[in-house]
Amino acid sequence: MKEDNKKAIAPMVEDSWMPFRGRSFQNRVAYGMCLIAAICTLGLFILNSSTLDLSTLTSGSPKPVYGPQKMTPEEVREHLAVIDKGLHEYLNRSKPFTKFGLPVVGWDETRKQAIRRSTNSSSGVNPKTRIMLITSSHPKKCDNKQGDQMLLKSIKNKLDYCRIHGIELYYNMDKIDDEMLGWWVKTFLTHMLMKEHPEIDWFWWMDSDAIFTDMTFELPLHKYENYNMVMHGWDDAVYEKRSWLGLNAGVFLIRNCQWSMDLLHAWAPMSPKGKIRDDVGKFLSKALPDRGKGEADDQSGLVYLMITDRERWGSKVYLESSYYFQGYWKVLTEKFEDMMAKYKPGIYGDDRWPFVTHFCGCEFCCGAINPEYTVDRCLTQMERAVNFADNQVLERYGFIHKSLKSAEVESREAAKNRTAKASVAAKSKKAV
Ligand SMILES: *[C@@H]1O[C@H](CO)[C@@H](O)[C@H](O)[C@H]1NC(C)=O
Ligand SMILES: *[C@@H]1O[C@H](CO)[C@@H](O)[C@H](O)[C@H]1NC(C)=O
Ligand SMILES: *[C@@H]1O[C@H](CO)[C@@H](O)[C@H](O)[C@H]1NC(C)=O
Repeated sequence: MKEDNKKAIAPMVEDSWMPFRGRSFQNRVAYGMCLIAAICTLGLFILNSSTLDLSTLTSGSPKPVYGPQKMTPEEVREHLAVIDKGLHEYLNRSKPFTKFGLPVVGWDETRKQAIRRSTNSSSGVNPKTRIMLITSSHPKKCDNKQGDQMLLKSIKNKLDYCRIHGIELYYNMDKIDDEMLGWWVKTFLTHMLMKEHPEIDWFWWMDSDAIFTDMTFELPLHKYENYNMVMHGWDDAVYEKRSWLGLNAGVFLIRNCQWSMDLLHAWAPMSPKGKIRDDVGKFLSKALPDRGKGEADDQSGLVYLMITDRERWGSKVYLESSYYFQGYWKVLTEKFEDMMAKYKPGIYGDDRWPFVTHFCGCEFCCGAINPEYTVDRCLTQMERAVNFADNQVLERYGFIHKSLKSAEVESREAAKNRTAKASVAAKSKKAV
């Protein structure tokens, strides 16, 4: 299996991805890797050997997405409508999806009442927006000890951010359900927490390999007022290229409302492990030309819903690319020292000081690793990222890490003295 994954990654980096250029290019490559990472991080998501075989890149669609031969918008609509009808009929014939219980109705009113009760607010609107961060990790121990330690650092990083910003945190380590294995568990957890916490306004899902690297930056929630879901991604990649890598479902914000309940009820039925997940994967591959084969994954499922019913789903999803709602670690972590010298946290969220750094493809918790990276490189860079973030927390108390690769801390004064001494020593050496 590991060998197959390696083969699958290589062509993705080469020719098949050339249409995407610029800053976003490497990110898009990374999205594929994030998904591969998910296989191992939860240890439950098994790819069969044909998954992500990109030699089949164009077979899902009768006409290419680019060039003079490409489908007209009308043809795309027809193409998708036929697939969608087939999928609905298929799911209608299959074992009904019952994990979420009966469909939730009148949720917006239920929430208002709950908020009125808990806050005395007559409008049923929270005086201050309430957010809950959800994250989840493998129920078993990692293959290597450093992996467990890194998970711990990752959760501490999230705790720190949440504490500073008054965000609630839910951490799951349970294996929730035999059929909702892998990252699909996010749909289950989100639905469960939404129902349990009607008073929360937004839920914020974050994969365990994503790290806050700007501890001061806050979500620009005012931008999302008319939307119910936010992810890092690009409209053209999702709606024109119909790319399953047009967004990243590893980090998302979802509003607690009836629309989101409905979305989860439309999304999760693609997930039951086994025949349904396998078969739904075929529908997804027909609709998303760059997907290759393989069982249904949560990210493709979401892109599918957005493009087949843009009015209902897509129009309420904000694809953010003005800052790193999540950013690809490889293009960021080696520049931390440079960022510290030139910029400040809390303002940009982008290359200058990334908000969230996502260690896609790192699989620090288990053996299988992307051939491009080594476990060491991943662990070194993750360590640097958590210390980079931790410095922003320690600053409040007058401390700093001795270096980004060191867990040891010292007072900022001592650090200043040390740098001053070092520069004096360097100067006198030069003078000699
Ligand atoms: C699903 O099945 C039900 C009952 O058999 C039927 O009423 C409904 O129209 C079907 N829906 C679709 C999309 O085929
Ligand atoms: C709501 O109002 C009642 C009566 O004025 C008061 O006793 C209670 O403490 C208030 N609750 C909150 C959460 O403000
Ligand atoms: C830093 O240097 C100043 C001036 O030489 C000295 O007074 C101070 O004790 C030093 N602080 C530390 C923590 O070394």
